[in-house]
Order: sequence, then structure tokens, then C-alpha cells
Amino acid sequence: MIIAIDGTTASGKGTIAKRLAAHYGLPHMDTGRLYRAVGVAAMKQGVPLDEAGPLSDIARMLDLSDFIEHELRSAEAGKAASVVAAIPSVRQALFELQRAFATREGGALLDGRDIGTVIAPDADVKLWVDADVPQRGERRWKELIGHGEDVTLDQVIEQLKIRDARDQGRTDAPAAMADDAILIDTTDLTIEAAVERAMAAVEAAL
Ligand code: C5P
Repeated sequence: MIIAIDGTTASGKGTIAKRLAAHYGLPHMDTGRLYRAVGVAAMKQGVPLDEAGPLSDIARMLDLSDFIEHELRSAEAGKAASVVAAIPSVRQALFELQRAFATREGGALLDGRDIGTVIAPDADVKLWVDADVPQRGERRWKELIGHGEDVTLDQVIEQLKIRDARDQGRTDAPAAMADDAILIDTTDLTIEAAVERAMAAVEAAL
């Protein structure tokens, strides 16, 4: 069984993915971490975020054990991830890794932006998780404040809008809901209710 979970930033997709993977006993790949790691590695090595050649070399040789979770989760890493993710050769360099994970024996669950459209168009169940911008902004702001980052809610909302536009507007594998995906709108849902809704959608689709 392949489960594809895509959606917008701070929609709750990551939490839903973790909980569904645990529930169904499926190995889980958070594909955003791959792009975040490329962005962080580039910043550490002083590689400009628009240099396709060196960035795709970084993507090809990526070793996730080189990174600590905290640096991957920062606002700066998220922004860098979305910049490098718009480069086709970077996406190409990360494709096989994701495809191999998606097609492993016993099934898998992947979450990201293009799982249902590009990485695993053959997934058994596809979810698209979204919520209103103010709601997502508040969630992300609380998360960043919790990590000790010094940002205002307005700044976070502004960054979120820029990220949405970049992810949805890129020409290669834009963040998009697959035609056969089920929409989970988490705007008015607690995380528990959102997980329940997602689980019910998976059960109905199987
Ligand atoms: O989901 P997360 O916020 O960790 O993703 C960071 C960025 O990585 C996204 O804004 C997006 O630009 C990029 N991404 C992508 N394709 C994926 C997963 C993430 O382009 N499958």
C-alpha cells in the first residue's frame, strides 16, 4: 500500500503523516526534509541558492545523518528548501531516492508537495491537506516561537504566502492536489480531529 500525503505548509500534513504511518505500520518519508537538507547544506557551504550545478551535486550526495533536526526545522531552512526545490535538476537528483522508497515491498507513506502527482501517481490513497492562511500562520508562528525564533505573526504570514506562491507557481512539479486526491481541510479541526478525518478518508479509499 502506498499512501501519498501532500499539502500546504503548516496545514498539519506532517503530523497526519506521522500518525497514519504509525497506525498502518508503514515506513514514512518526510520529503520536505530532503529539500530542507539541500538548502541547509548549501548555506553551510556558501553555495548560492540559484546555482543549479552545485546544488544538484549536493542533492545527489545527500546524507541526512549529517543534519540535526533543529537546523532542518528552522524558518530559514524552510525558505531555502522552497528556493532550491524550484530547480528541476535538484528535483531530478532527489527523484530516485523518493521513488525507490515509495515502491519498496510492504508499502510506504510519503508526505510532501508532489507525491500524488509526480513521485507516486500510482499511490493507493492520496490526501491533500490544507487550511486557511491565518490559521496556518498562527500554527507556524507558535511552532517557531517555541523553537526560540524571534518572529512576528505578520512576518510568518507574509513568508507563508511567499512560500505558497513559489511552491505552487514553479514550472517543475508545482505543489498541487492530484485529481484523485481527497481534500482534508484542517482549518477548524484540532489535530486529533484532523488525524481522525484523514484516517476515515484512507479507510474509505482502501
Ligand atoms: O514540507 P516542508 O515545509 O518541510 O517542505 C519544505 C519545502 O520543500 C516546501 O516549501 C517545498 O518547496 C519543498 N518540497 C517540495 N516537494 C516535496 C516536499 C517539499 O518541493 N515533495
